[in-house]
Amino acid sequence: MINIIEHTEKFVRNELGADATGHDWFHVDRVRRNALHICKQEMTGDPFIIEMAALLHDISDEKLNESVEKGQEKLTAFFESINLSENAKIHITQIIETISYKGGKNTKLQSVEAKIVQDADRLDAIGAIGIARAFAYGGKKGQPIYDPAIQVREEMSIEEYRKGKSTTIHHFYEKLLKLKELLNTETARGLAESRQQMMVEFLEQFYQEWDGLDL
Ligand code: ADP
Ligand code: NI
Repeated sequence: MINIIEHTEKFVRNELGADATGHDWFHVDRVRRNALHICKQEMTGDPFIIEMAALLHDISDEKLNESVEKGQEKLTAFFESINLSENAKIHITQIIETISYKGGKNTKLQSVEAKIVQDADRLDAIGAIGIARAFAYGGKKGQPIYDPAIQVREEMSIEEYRKGKSTTIHHFYEKLLKLKELLNTETARGLAESRQQMMVEFLEQFYQEWDGLDL
């Protein structure tokens, strides 16, 4: 059988190739690269588990599947097709199930590998790429760019986070700007600095133009 990583790459490319919500193959590939970089810098974590979890992290995502169960089935079926120890499968599944943000209702992470993959995914949600992904997601979901009449939500259930009325600019306050403080590793915190700065400046300029203050 060909190398497990290559086999997993092929599977993920096939599954996520056509996604237009910012969860495409290129996102997965960046998360994998970020995760392996953090692993190397921090000199901790099992790189194989980290790479596999990064590659598979969006496969069972409820947003990209008909239901939570259907997403889990997809991952389980894939695991049945590869030659991997039960322990590794359990660990990778646990990472994938615990790293999601879900409106801030995140679970306590069990392993250093989970912390690294979560940081890698979060780095791709902020900065210039984060801005691009948020508007791609908002467009695909038919959500407005901005509406000053809508309130920023502080506390919300997962249901409200996914389905409630909001705008992409609001998403910066409801999630993206908060991520920097929630990172687990020093390496990711360092990388987040300039990405955070980029979002803050983007928002300032956005309001300037929205209000015509630059005219
Ligand atoms: P997680 O998978 O960590 O729970 P989300 O599913 O909330 O994260 O979001 C993943 C990415 O999708 C975000 O970083 C953002 O780019 C985009 N996204 C999710 N919800 C929204 C939203 N309401 N408006 C704009 N972008 C969103
Ligand atoms: Ni992701």
